[in-house]
Amino acid sequence: MTSNDSIKEALKNVTYPGFTKSIVDFGFVKKINADGEKVEIDIKVTSSSAEVEKQIRDDVKKALETIGVKEYNLNIEKPKMPKESSSHGKNIAPYIKNFVMVSSGKGGVGKSTTTVNLAISLAKQGKKVGLLDADIYGPNIPRMIGTVDQSPEIVGNKVKPIISHGIETMSMGSLMGEGQSLIWRGAMVTKAIQQLLQDILWGDLDVLVIDMPPGTGDAQLTLAQSVPVTAGVCVTTPQKVALDDTARSLDMFKKLHIPIAGIVENMSGFICPETNKEYDIFGKGTTEPLAKEYDTVVLGEIPIDPTIREGGDIGKPIVSEFPDSEITKRYDIAAKELWKMIEKINEEGGVDNEAVQPTIGGSCSSNSGKSSCSV
Ligand SMILES: Nc1ncnc2c1ncn2[C@@H]1O[C@H](COP(=O)(O)OP(=O)(O)O)[C@@H](O)[C@H]1O
Ligand SMILES: [Mg+2]
Repeated sequence: MTSNDSIKEALKNVTYPGFTKSIVDFGFVKKINADGEKVEIDIKVTSSSAEVEKQIRDDVKKALETIGVKEYNLNIEKPKMPKESSSHGKNIAPYIKNFVMVSSGKGGVGKSTTTVNLAISLAKQGKKVGLLDADIYGPNIPRMIGTVDQSPEIVGNKVKPIISHGIETMSMGSLMGEGQSLIWRGAMVTKAIQQLLQDILWGDLDVLVIDMPPGTGDAQLTLAQSVPVTAGVCVTTPQKVALDDTARSLDMFKKLHIPIAGIVENMSGFICPETNKEYDIFGKGTTEPLAKEYDTVVLGEIPIDPTIREGGDIGKPIVSEFPDSEITKRYDIAAKELWKMIEKINEEGGVDNEAVQPTIGGSCSSNSGKSSCSV
């Protein structure tokens, strides 16, 4: 005799198509009833895609077979097709006007470095800026912004952001202490991201710039479902192999209905300080065709420069320390372009994260012809 619990356990092996979390962890399994003659399972999904339904049906069948259940009724409730008209969806941090998700296909490409410098540059341009380190697996922002030794102030059951270089910042690194680490499971990631938005006393920010973990996973999905993400920025290095991962990141923005503000090509060439000669260590200018393919722009090309690395290591970002340098100028231009895109997106009606659902297939109309959204 199969129990409700053993069925639930089996369904934990059914991941929601396109994501790493299971349909149980997402809370999509609404009813399991193994009492009657036939097992009854009700699932309510957030995607209206027929492909999602088919994938779930196939995976549920496989999962139930492993515990010997062959006869069952599976009801999958899907939402009606999304409305054309846009009403704003969920926003658990409503006093923040814009959210920018900074993403990369993989780690080490300079995502955190870019996030920090863009955030400070936006602040220098008069915006009220917050910087959220949502890379809970590898929180580097405190070191890069010089707040490693600072503990945030607790007010009641909320936490005040730490002010540094003219911006409000918060990171799991500041909350957990140096060197500590947790093994994050899906549900914990979701909770952590939500708390970093909800339980931090962010000011009335013009923009919260968010450093995401690399890749496309639960953190990205949680963020997109918790606040209306105004725009996505992708950071990449110029090698072909990096660009393949970047395409996946851009596909993710499309999948989550996040307007793409642009791509930053980082480690783009190296100018020898002695000879002024330029060397293409990882390549240079290779991002432009990818940007065109995704109907977006290259916000900036930032060369390899030891000053950038040193600034990150000692908590003195280059745009603060060397405001007149050539590299700072490039970050400043990228930040200006980013802000223009944010204004444009808002003029066009902004984002509606009611439509932000884990979907595959139909809604992921990448023009790359090799979208990672298909299963
Ligand atoms: N343009 C650059 N020139 C030199 N060093 C860089 C540049 N961009 C990033 N770095 C360095 O490369 C390392 C990885 O960058 P980081 O921003 O931590 O990457 P990610 O967040 O993508 O993992 C850091 O030590 C950083 O200081
Ligand atoms: Mg990082």
